[in-house]
Amino acid sequence: MTAKLWGGRFRKEQDKRALLYSQSITFDYRLYPYDIGGSIAYAKMLGRCGFIKKKDTDAIEKALSDILAQMDAEKFSFDIDLEDIHTNIEAALVTRVGADIGGRLHTGRSRNDQVALDMRMYVKDEALEIRGGLQQVRRALIAQAEKNLDAVMPGFTHLQHAQPVLLAHHLLAYNEMLVRDEERFLKAYEAADVMPLGSAALAGTSFQIDRQFLAKELNFAKLSNNSIDAVSDRDYLIELLSACATFMMHISRLSEELILWSSSEFGFVEMDDAFTTGSSIMPQKKNPDIAELARARTAKVYGNLMTLLCLMKGLPLAYNRDLQEDKPCVFDSVDIVRDTLDVFAPMIETLVVNAKRMEQECKAGFLNATDLADYLVKKDVPFRQAHAIVGKVVSFCIRENAAIEDLPLEKLQEFSPLFQKDVYKEISLAAVINSRRAPGGTARPNVLKAIRRAKKDLGME
Ligand code: ARG
Repeated sequence: MTAKLWGGRFRKEQDKRALLYSQSITFDYRLYPYDIGGSIAYAKMLGRCGFIKKKDTDAIEKALSDILAQMDAEKFSFDIDLEDIHTNIEAALVTRVGADIGGRLHTGRSRNDQVALDMRMYVKDEALEIRGGLQQVRRALIAQAEKNLDAVMPGFTHLQHAQPVLLAHHLLAYNEMLVRDEERFLKAYEAADVMPLGSAALAGTSFQIDRQFLAKELNFAKLSNNSIDAVSDRDYLIELLSACATFMMHISRLSEELILWSSSEFGFVEMDDAFTTGSSIMPQKKNPDIAELARARTAKVYGNLMTLLCLMKGLPLAYNRDLQEDKPCVFDSVDIVRDTLDVFAPMIETLVVNAKRMEQECKAGFLNATDLADYLVKKDVPFRQAHAIVGKVVSFCIRENAAIEDLPLEKLQEFSPLFQKDVYKEISLAAVINSRRAPGGTARPNVLKAIRRAKKDLGME
């Protein structure tokens, strides 16, 4: 067994089962770029402050860069006996530069502030990556909205036909959600942007280290104010996982709609072959598995948030080994979000819209009933009365299996003498959509403006 970094006070070796139970290298290996980046900055700082000699600083820096290159090339073999990423890297450093030099790097530092640093650096990188991915999906949504600007579809409430809307308006609703998701990830970035080194195990360090230098070197906006807080809270991870959960909730709703819309009952869209799967028994099938898996993985992302909240709730200050278990939840959620963004951008981009079918569906379900009532309101009928009159018209139409616009004027006038010839124009599909001109409504000019704004926002022009 490899000698333990902390082995000094122990008279017995650690049981293999205890080691396997407590090791984290199988998942925290992926923090290596941050751990090494943090250690290089720390070595430089120790050098500047006179805790290690200049030539030793250089040797440490060079060795750490070599280790980084080796890990990047996947040529480093991680040793499970060394527990975690921090000790694996420290041991590799000592092998290269000797214990007399390598053993000085941990001056005034603990794995507790080291792991806090690594995770904060990781979150900052990932939050920005996710933001980029969100923008790709937004671009795809906006491109579809623009391409299908004239496609009308039934808008739904309770999954029942409600009022007609432009498909573009519906797609842009998702754009709005993703804009807010971007903001949430940026907030998570800010929450993570606090430099914890110098907190050491929990109480801070007696060495006069230069924390400002570390923050600058590692591109952090702020220093942590309290060493106990810095090593023991994971609220910034909860903020990240909460942003992940909200984003997946949005993607899951979109997935649900894509699944419905590509069914033969709806037939509103067809997904590209490249983003669907077939059946091993039914040769005719083309299934929306990607959307289904996104819907399912949303559950895992919710679960990860709940795991972390539960993990934190009873922990006394400061560091407890429980905190090691933050990583699998965070990595899993981030991976799911990134993979989802990766596959959704092209899947949305290649979606084929069946505008004819959507328009056909607009004829069913009395989508213009509200507008018929509004017509009467404009003739000074109180809305409640108008609502009742149109209710009767609809009831008649259901019995006759007719659409409102199919009724002759004389028939309509039996319900209200205020109906005139111009009513047909007012309740036509185009008029119904384009009358909704109040800001935020589905009228074509509004939607066109929204597309232009979104494109500008994303630098798409
Ligand atoms: N692998 C540990 C973690 O992820 C690193 C910190 C270990 N600190 C300790 N006191 N055992 O939390």
